[in-house]
Amino acid sequence: MKKVKIALLGLGNVGTGVWKIFQMNKDEIEKRSGYEVKISKILVRDKKKNRGLDIPEELITTNFKDILEDDEIKVVVEVMGGIEPAKSYILSAIKNKKHIVTANKMLLATRGDELFKEADENGVMFRYEASVAGGIPIINGINESLTANKIENLYGIVNGTTNYILSKMDLEKVNFKTALKEAQVKGYAEADPTSDVDGYDSQYKLAILAALSFGTQVDVSNVYREGITNISSLDIEYARELGYKIKLLAIVKNHDNKLELRVHPTMVPEEHPLGAVYDSFNAIFLKGNAVGELMFYGRGAGDLPTGSAVVSDIIAIIKEDVEGENKIPVVKNNLWKKEFKEMSEVTCRYYIRATVIDEPGVLGEITKVFGENKVSLRSVIQRGRRHSGQYVTLVFETYLTKETNIISSIDSLYELKSVNKIDNLIRIEEF
Ligand SMILES: NC(=O)c1ccc[n+]([C@@H]2O[C@H](COP(=O)([O-])OP(=O)(O)OC[C@H]3O[C@@H](n4cnc5c(N)ncnc54)[C@H](OP(=O)(O)O)[C@@H]3O)[C@@H](O)[C@H]2O)c1
Repeated sequence: MKKVKIALLGLGNVGTGVWKIFQMNKDEIEKRSGYEVKISKILVRDKKKNRGLDIPEELITTNFKDILEDDEIKVVVEVMGGIEPAKSYILSAIKNKKHIVTANKMLLATRGDELFKEADENGVMFRYEASVAGGIPIINGINESLTANKIENLYGIVNGTTNYILSKMDLEKVNFKTALKEAQVKGYAEADPTSDVDGYDSQYKLAILAALSFGTQVDVSNVYREGITNISSLDIEYARELGYKIKLLAIVKNHDNKLELRVHPTMVPEEHPLGAVYDSFNAIFLKGNAVGELMFYGRGAGDLPTGSAVVSDIIAIIKEDVEGENKIPVVKNNLWKKEFKEMSEVTCRYYIRATVIDEPGVLGEITKVFGENKVSLRSVIQRGRRHSGQYVTLVFETYLTKETNIISSIDSLYELKSVNKIDNLIRIEEF
């Protein structure tokens, strides 16, 4: 059997998963790829760390040159994360004609174009299945299996941590703080959860998915972003009453060459398949103009699920032509030029929760403001009447309207003496 050497940059969660899969599934990998794959070097920061794995000491290095200068290493697998030194290591490996596999969404979403260009110019393959939704084969799904389609829209639950938190808040009726703590104890959320709960992680992933789905360059700044820290138990309760589940959705829609890209908490009809995605699971629901609606569902993180995506990329490279020049262009995101919709131009349905003074005529004043701003209301909830003059919660659900009309309504509502606070505004998707 032919032999091929590869190297890992990083032996954390994902690197460990990759190592384990090569031990667990040696026979499958060899038979399917036609090669005996040897992980011949692994780059780490701390050589002495106990990793609970039976890895020969001589494989571990802290010097990237051991990998870069070994001509027998044909594939470099970057699973260390961050921008630098990951980016410089990948660029030097490409220049030394090594094929690349990476799981690094932050790097791809912010510096992907530079890496793809370098890979193309050097005739090396560059694969990144694990960068979005861990074990779910969405990148290769779009890039290979769905190329006969024009993708019309895509909705993703692409962050397991926030989905876990929202699921806990919904199913166990706990508040955000308690759910976040549990996510941290379970290892789903980092000690600093900002990237997940403020939506940055989903923003990176949507930029990658949109670039690939629409063959265009997408900058992270083109993606509108809101996180889930504002979602309260009350919103979850009202959503239930209205027949919705709240999910952090990454959404892209194509309108006559203009892309609408947004990440924010979204009310999804409870009977929609995305409404039934619980725990730390991920899902991507998309519509192609030939295939129709499709949903991909699975584990978006974890050592083995993410390792599964990384190892399948390694096998794909080895099967393609690991010894030769890559003839398939890497860059697929400069085929069309697209414009991006401003958030104010987006049309949506909205849930608005407000605290107002409970007095006769207040509801009339508020609905008048919505009317003046061209916002039609679909329903209003006022639960339990208190004593006149006290604060009460009102919940409004609108029909389709422009974001700009909602913003002007809220500005006008704040001018009313009877409105104490607009507590939350959550967009509703109907699909
Ligand atoms: N975790 C997931 O489930 C998941 C899912 C999808 C994608 N990803 C992506 O996969 C990548 C890796 O994630 P992870 O969770 O496996 O990270 P991790 O557990 O923090 O592991 C990072 C590894 O890289 C090594 N490393 C970091 N900086 C280094 C440097 N400057 N020089 C040498 N080695 C260095 C670390 O070495 P030491 O061990 O010596 O510290 C560690 O082994 C990230 O891009 C992440 O976004 C992760």
